[in-house]
Amino acid sequence: MLPHDASTATKKICALAPIIPVLVVHDVAHARPLAEALVAGGLPVLEVTLRTEAALAVIAEMAKVEGGVVGAGTLLTPDDVKRAKDAGATFGVSPGATDRLLSACEDAHLPTLPGAATATEAMRLLERGYDMMKFFPAEASGGAPALKSLASPLPQISFCPTGGVSMANARSYLSLPNVACAGGSWVAPDALVQAGDWPAITELARAASQLSRDA
Ligand code: 3PG
Repeated sequence: MLPHDASTATKKICALAPIIPVLVVHDVAHARPLAEALVAGGLPVLEVTLRTEAALAVIAEMAKVEGGVVGAGTLLTPDDVKRAKDAGATFGVSPGATDRLLSACEDAHLPTLPGAATATEAMRLLERGYDMMKFFPAEASGGAPALKSLASPLPQISFCPTGGVSMANARSYLSLPNVACAGGSWVAPDALVQAGDWPAITELARAASQLSRDA
């Protein structure tokens, strides 16, 4: 897959909802009800981080949920890419970008949101053909004002800011012309997942799904 085609694919995914839940799931039994709760709340795009032993099994379970678009987050190595794709991930997300990782995603035909936090990192990705990327860690890297500043010299790049995004600040990102969507873990807090409080997660998802891109 060419980088340009990967960016086209991730842009389509990012257009499906204003927020991508970033999920750290420890128990595969939580996978289906959690995905169903988020999809029911209007958040179909789900990023399952490869940070737990259960993550690949969780991706496989969530991929069975109707209406869900399930991807793998925290891709760090070519092996992560292969395992994520084999598990059923339809897109990938990485906190950064290395040539080895990008080549693995391209070879595996896995559309991926590579991470960038500076103008130089974004320019390197643009040079390779990527114009849709994750801005990480968003708040720690200057938040919405930093992204707004990048829009002037690099208007051709769209971002999905992630890291410290919440209901309180999501609008400040989503109102920017260079933000396609944002990612965040707040819609699936560990306490609610552990308690199996799926209705509460659906409510959080519903509120997040109603965030407007031009608020
Ligand atoms: C992550 O990779 O953990 C994401 O950046 C989520 O960050 P958040 O927990 O601040 O939403």
